[in-house]
Amino acid sequence: MIRPLIAPSLLAANFANLQHDLEMINDSEADYLHFDVMDGVFVPNISFGFPVLEVARKHSKKPLDVHLMITDPDRYIDAFAEGGATTIHVHYEACTHLHRTLTHIRKMGCRAGVALNPHTPVDGLEDVLEQLDVVLIMSVNPGFGGQSFIPHTFRKVAKLKQLLTDNRASTLIEIDGGISIKNASALLSAGADILVAGSSVFGAQDPLEAIRQLKNSHQP
Ligand code: DX5
Ligand code: ZN
Repeated sequence: MIRPLIAPSLLAANFANLQHDLEMINDSEADYLHFDVMDGVFVPNISFGFPVLEVARKHSKKPLDVHLMITDPDRYIDAFAEGGATTIHVHYEACTHLHRTLTHIRKMGCRAGVALNPHTPVDGLEDVLEQLDVVLIMSVNPGFGGQSFIPHTFRKVAKLKQLLTDNRASTLIEIDGGISIKNASALLSAGADILVAGSSVFGAQDPLEAIRQLKNSHQP
């Protein structure tokens, strides 16, 4: 049985004691640290940027999964790559020259990811599959943690899985927003490989156990 890869989202951490939460993730079965960057323009919220990235790089032992919810992401790819990102996700809706952007992310030594808003169909990815390491399907409208999962995501994940199979692509499928143990197994059955989880991890009584449960969620 293939276990999912788990990426706790730092957005839901306690910023009064970030080091504590980063060490908790280090001790956990998490595979990545998901790092949400919001610019207040592409999404109606502002999160954090380079000073927090520096703290994450200093204290985290997990690879950094950077999700850029910003307009004109090309301007910042080099800085995030040099700042320690393992994966950089840009939004499909924010890229005029997606092929060029993805090629550049790889050239900078990172894995290239594209994030899709809930209204963005998966079909537009067919012509960039060779440049893509991972697709980040948003299961909420980006901008805030703690929102409700959009059930249509199951069908979208299945559709993307079919597209990847038809094209013999090894691109991974990552899902972000409203994920908990309640929908994890169904997402894996639909074809998900990586699960991002913010509030269901940091809001849990025992975050280590919440990560363990997600890691052990399996296809029903
Ligand atoms: C939403 C962010 C998510 C968010 C997930 O815009 O991209 O990564 O932190 O948080 P939860 O798991 O609470 O929905
Ligand atoms: Zn995210």
